Amino acid sequence: MIWHPFNQFYYRNNFKKITYAKGVYLFDSHNNPIIDAISSWWVNLHGHANPIIAQAIYEQALKLEQVIFANFTHEPAEQLSQNLLPLLPGKMDYLFFSDNGSTATEVAIKMAVQYFFNQGIKKNKILAFENAYHGDTFGAMSVSEKNIFTFPFSDMLFEVIRIPTPNLENIEDLLQTCHQICKKQDIAAIILEPLIQGAGGMKIYEARYLDELLKLLKKNDILFIADEVMTGFGRTGTLFACDQLQQKPDIICLSKGITGGFLPLGVTACKKYIFDAFYSPELSKTFFHGHSYTANPLACAAANASLQLTCSPATYESWERIRNQHFEFSSMLKNHSKLKNIRCLGTIWAAEMEQAQNQYENPISYIWSEKAIQKGVLLRPLGNTLYILPPYCITKEELNQVYEVIIELLDEN
Ligand SMILES: Cc1ncc(COP(=O)(O)O)c(C=O)c1O
Repeated sequence: MIWHPFNQFYYRNNFKKITYAKGVYLFDSHNNPIIDAISSWWVNLHGHANPIIAQAIYEQALKLEQVIFANFTHEPAEQLSQNLLPLLPGKMDYLFFSDNGSTATEVAIKMAVQYFFNQGIKKNKILAFENAYHGDTFGAMSVSEKNIFTFPFSDMLFEVIRIPTPNLENIEDLLQTCHQICKKQDIAAIILEPLIQGAGGMKIYEARYLDELLKLLKKNDILFIADEVMTGFGRTGTLFACDQLQQKPDIICLSKGITGGFLPLGVTACKKYIFDAFYSPELSKTFFHGHSYTANPLACAAANASLQLTCSPATYESWERIRNQHFEFSSMLKNHSKLKNIRCLGTIWAAEMEQAQNQYENPISYIWSEKAIQKGVLLRPLGNTLYILPPYCITKEELNQVYEVIIELLDEN
């Protein structure tokens, strides 16, 4: 038997088998098409089974499938660092590889703390936002919101200073609070999901207030870790969400879309001054972190091919078109009695279902998912938060079909 992730078997114990996929469609064993409106957990960028990425992986597999990265380097990783680093907000200097989004954030936290440690400075507190989600490993759980995901492990997680996301109403108080916190606490870094908190319910917050907060924190020598695991590679309408900020990160975490959704890969990018704090004849200053499949050549080859597709004018046009369609859909639903907080950011659309409360503790997500799949669309509400986060190859007609299914479901429920 298989134990599926993030799944309460009481509500879902029957899993549709997907036999193949093409573009925006998944096909089940009866050949029924299902539009993947959530990019298979936010990983897919250019559609399923994209031939350009598939070919790049195939060609790489015939050359070099894997090699220990502690001793060697290879062309796909070198190429990725050359191509990706200059595109990152704040122009990063070093890429550190791992396997997924959680490890990318673990690496970032460890990097930040050891950056100070190596300089003889004891700063080991982390600042994080309420309602955050940074992954499922212990460090990532620690900096995430304490909630249904993490309650069983509460006593085992390290202490984190939590503040609300900034907005017009709270910014003055928040700046005051942070000013006090900075005086009293030894804070190494703030970790945050820029502009939108994904798993926390697609909660959008404004760049200008975040910039004000970051300015203060930076003045107090607190590193800024941008967790762009979900927002990276165009989801928010710019290549990275931090492109919309004045304040730039010291460390950036990426995963999910990095390989176009083909293979697992995490990267943590940093500035040269971070790397320099680890450079020393003293072995104790080494960054002792690594995974067996670090910088897997196949995953790097997929990432290079995906990055090329992402940086094409056609992809930028798709972001714009999806965004405009989302806006039109939102204004059409403006007064819908069963939806509230309708919002969009770039290619992401979200709203709360009025009748249901309480994220995740609410089986409505299961009911909606099942019904939507029967209508040929993959949706996976976050509790009562309904959202669309499609692959960029989705056509106008396919996206309209997703909207129609949402309207039908609202009418039926
Ligand atoms: C912002 C953010 N960080 C980290 C993660 C963890 O990524 P992974 O599921 O690849 O471990 C996620 C996953 O949803 C995420 O949204």
